[in-house]
Amino acid sequence: MREQLPRLDTHPELRQRLLPYCRLQPGEIWEDPVAGHRVGVLDAADETAVQTLMSGAKADLIINDPPYNLRVGQANTPHLSKQKLDDYMAFSRRWVENALAVTAVHAHFYIWLGADVRDQFQPLPDFMLLMRQYPALRPRNLITLRNQRGYGTQQNWMWVRQELLHYVQGKPPFHVVYTDIPKILRGYYKQVNGQRTENLQRSKAQTLRPGNVWVDVQQVFYRMKENVPGCYAQKPLKAIERLVQSSSDEGALLLDLFAHSGTTLLAAERYGRRVYTADNDPIFAEITIRRLEHYRASGEPGWQWHSPFPEISL
Ligand SMILES: C[S@@+](CC[C@H](N)C(=O)[O-])C[C@H]1O[C@@H](n2cnc3c(N)ncnc32)[C@H](O)[C@@H]1O
Repeated sequence: MREQLPRLDTHPELRQRLLPYCRLQPGEIWEDPVAGHRVGVLDAADETAVQTLMSGAKADLIINDPPYNLRVGQANTPHLSKQKLDDYMAFSRRWVENALAVTAVHAHFYIWLGADVRDQFQPLPDFMLLMRQYPALRPRNLITLRNQRGYGTQQNWMWVRQELLHYVQGKPPFHVVYTDIPKILRGYYKQVNGQRTENLQRSKAQTLRPGNVWVDVQQVFYRMKENVPGCYAQKPLKAIERLVQSSSDEGALLLDLFAHSGTTLLAAERYGRRVYTADNDPIFAEITIRRLEHYRASGEPGWQWHSPFPEISL
């Protein structure tokens, strides 16, 4: 079994074949007639485009997964290519300010970002310093998504870390969520109503809270039902659903300016939230819309190794 689409950003001739099947041109926005979601082909760094997408609305939860400024494998493409750090930071400043301008008074603001260990950890520390310039956003957490190969092994270290920055503005809602990992540690005793109780007796749940190292979230690969072939940077649904459940109420409006495979859109749909999302690539915007339609028609969260473009045979 092999994925039926290769990485789309590195196959220019395949992109030319797919573009005629994309319903949106740059600058256009699709309106979902069922739940009111929106998907645009827009540049996150373009202030007017972001304002148009929001049309006066403010977002209660912002989930951003920008390109990380890391060269992955041999690829040197418009999407996963490496810019000069100054240029990357100028781009980051523009999209952060565009997102902040449409952020509600009480909101959560998440950013996924990479850190290249072989290149002074860029761009993570630079981005964290940039965020100090927006004091209305208070840091809440730094979450590590993957327990990576490295310390303790002889070779094949993973040089690219993937982190999740969590900021808040005002006092947004927060709902406690749990993992599926059973609590096994015993021995924290406390007197309750004169009785000596052990921590498991006092717990509200039998499973652990996620904490700030999310070891229970698996990276997406082609055998998983949620896999979207052709998408090289897809985030696990479980991780985004955790953000949606914990950091927004039902009916909330979410914003994601880097849609890619549409994971935020799907998580919002499954939990009764609305999302306005965009990608500057019409192919990823099309995949985002198709993923929602495919989910509604089949209940499946992705295509596993099957192609989201059955019109094209490879
Ligand atoms: C890391 S991926 C996002 C992954 C997504 N969270 C998911 O789970 O599928 C980054 C996406 O940002 C898009 N992108 C790059 N530059 C952009 C820009 N200036 N404006 C909007 N989207 C952009 C890329 O085409 C790519 O699809």
